[in-house]
Amino acid sequence: MSFVAFFRRFALPRKSKTRQQHVEKRKETDLYSGSSIKNTISKTGTFRSVDSPPSQAATSSSSQSTSQKRTIDGRRYHDDNVPYVLPDDDEDKDRLHQQHWMLKLAYGNNFDAPVEAQLENGAVVLDSGCGPATWTLELANAYPHSTFYGIDVAPQFPETIKPFNCNFQVADLASKLPFPDNTFDFIHQRLLVVALSRAGWNNCISELYRILKPGGWIEFRETDIRVASETGSPSFQFFFEKLRIMIEGRGMVPSMVTELDSHLLKEQGFVSIQSRSIPMPVMDGSILGQLAGDDLISLFEGLAPIMSKLYPEKLGTDEQIADFKRALREEWADLDEDKRYAGRWWDICAQKPLENDTK
Ligand SMILES: C[S@@+](CC[C@H](N)C(=O)[O-])C[C@H]1O[C@@H](n2cnc3c(N)ncnc32)[C@H](O)[C@@H]1O
Repeated sequence: MSFVAFFRRFALPRKSKTRQQHVEKRKETDLYSGSSIKNTISKTGTFRSVDSPPSQAATSSSSQSTSQKRTIDGRRYHDDNVPYVLPDDDEDKDRLHQQHWMLKLAYGNNFDAPVEAQLENGAVVLDSGCGPATWTLELANAYPHSTFYGIDVAPQFPETIKPFNCNFQVADLASKLPFPDNTFDFIHQRLLVVALSRAGWNNCISELYRILKPGGWIEFRETDIRVASETGSPSFQFFFEKLRIMIEGRGMVPSMVTELDSHLLKEQGFVSIQSRSIPMPVMDGSILGQLAGDDLISLFEGLAPIMSKLYPEKLGTDEQIADFKRALREEWADLDEDKRYAGRWWDICAQKPLENDTK
């Protein structure tokens, strides 16, 4: 396949396709991995069906993923229905678990919103785009009087072994959400910058507003892919620059976090908007810097199968990928200490006004 054809497939926005076209596409994609069309066995040996049905109704409440899957060089990705660029497989689940602990250490907590007392007493909480649900599970355990819901477009969350006060279901944040108005006291959403298009964000903010109770709090933790592409080591900048191009090509907004507090939340009607930003050290000798370095390498590993086809001159062979990984780790040591940062992360909290408050 030519570079242009590959770039179109992975970096340009998708148009909806018929089921037959999806099947044809999967056949073609599987040429990369040699895996069977219907099923794949991940590197950890877990058997997973990848023959999930085409996009379902917006309010799907089953544990079936709403997107098709494709496997490239052993990593499993969403197909065209979902813009999300990172893998949907066991390796990335592990990365997200680890990333949760990294972020908890970096921010010093699991949330900034003033909801501690409510959580202690019994609140209804949504983890929006929960992934493998490390945040949800930790909080459900810490606040047994509260009830937690996690939604994700892919069922990465635990379906059977989970705390009694946790519920999970598949739902697409770019569509209508399967909850009545005014359901939640607190909504948490982390790291959807590589997942939602601008239209997806608009829908998501309006839907989350709808299902949040008056007086309830919403909280986002996000990074800015553009800022990250302008900081850190040369290989880090190359990687994030290509990631930026990739997500922009799929209609996403690399600096969405800068629009969240200044535009989107305000326009939706949220009040008491507050934000806090923190630098993310990498390979600076600290534990956090070590965790962030490990996260960076796993993130690159998850995208290498796609990037190697988009940039074959730099990442086309296994040897080049291994060299690039080495450079990603080692170049930080050549930077001045105050430059060993992978951009900044933001926490943004906002409240839905009480019914008698004006917008
Ligand atoms: C980077 S992960 C973050 C997961 C989790 N919030 C965390 O911090 O560990 C992004 C998650 O968003 C999910 N996702 C992507 N597109 C989505 C959509 N349209 N609706 C719901 N979830 C989506 C992905 O499946 C993935 O689990």
